Amino acid sequence: MSEDINILGIESSCDETAAAVVCNGRQVKSSVVASQVDIHARFGGVVPEVASRAHIEAIYPVISEAVEKSGVALGDIDAIAVANQPGLTVALIVGVTAAKTLAFALEKPLIAINHIHAHLQAAMLAEENVELPAVAMVVSGGHTSLFDCESALDLTLMGSTIDDAAGEAFDKVAKILGLPYPGGPSIEKAAKNGNPKAVHFPRSMLGKESLDFSFSGIKTAVLYHCQGQDMKGENRAASMSEQEVADIAASFQAAVVEVLVKKTQRAAKKINAKTVLLGGGVAANTTFRNALEDMCNGEGLKLLTAPRSLCTDNAVMIASLAYYKYEAKMFADLSLEPSARS
Ligand code: KG4
Ligand code: ZN
Repeated sequence: MSEDINILGIESSCDETAAAVVCNGRQVKSSVVASQVDIHARFGGVVPEVASRAHIEAIYPVISEAVEKSGVALGDIDAIAVANQPGLTVALIVGVTAAKTLAFALEKPLIAINHIHAHLQAAMLAEENVELPAVAMVVSGGHTSLFDCESALDLTLMGSTIDDAAGEAFDKVAKILGLPYPGGPSIEKAAKNGNPKAVHFPRSMLGKESLDFSFSGIKTAVLYHCQGQDMKGENRAASMSEQEVADIAASFQAAVVEVLVKKTQRAAKKINAKTVLLGGGVAANTTFRNALEDMCNGEGLKLLTAPRSLCTDNAVMIASLAYYKYEAKMFADLSLEPSARS
């Protein structure tokens, strides 16, 4: 029997400081996430410098806790993996510096991980044999991307957002409606009591063949709706009834979900996909999960979705994907730098 490979994963690309130990790419030995949501809620969004400072404070305790909980001695960790792109550079640098320091001190290989690709790994965690080809979709606060997936490490971008990411649109619309940050869960909660057909918001498809996304138009449409068509009025959201806010939230959510599902269907047809993989923070949305499942059932596609706990940022997905890079000996050296873009 081959030896177990334990990898320590580190994540600090946005507003979560996370560390996890995963054995052989699938067996989660520990997972620790320190969220900065409360800190950023005051500003209604992530402030990069504030995030960086919070990462610096959290990184050591989070890594220590993850190693301790895993039951694996630090010296027995086989490799250190870190998300080095894409994300906020001032945030990424904290995880990258910690990972490089550990790799150097422990004399273990360093593995660089693409955060977006890792989100998809969260969808593959439960399934040993994913039927290929697969269309893989990452929908988060920073990204809305469709990939042609040939393996965990072989992803070709098919389309992505040309302006706001879907999660970003949820966050901005929540702000317009006076709902708390982060906007995704707030909109989902408000939408439960709303009528998704109350307001018709635009569904931007960007042409018949396009696999790109655009969500800035719908955000502006919600703003128009709240300020009156001439945009000269005050934002009425504060004086709206709870029902009115719920109707707008439900109508907005329905429009975004419809676009996400239709584009996935389009991409799946294009590559004759057998499977659809879904990851990223917005994948936690129940209306979206259900709509995508209905589409997949209708098209005979198998849907693999990340478990809710691994939809938002975490380090399990980093350590898990790193296993495949470890096996392929795809190591980084100590000159590794963070990169805002992938
Ligand atoms: O993946 P993630 O934690 O961070 C990025 O890599 O961006 O995603 C966070 C995003 C936020 O925009 C948040 O509003 C959105 O995911 N989100 C949701 C839900 N939960 C989180 N959007 C819609 N419905 C949800 N239930
Ligand atoms: Zn993410």
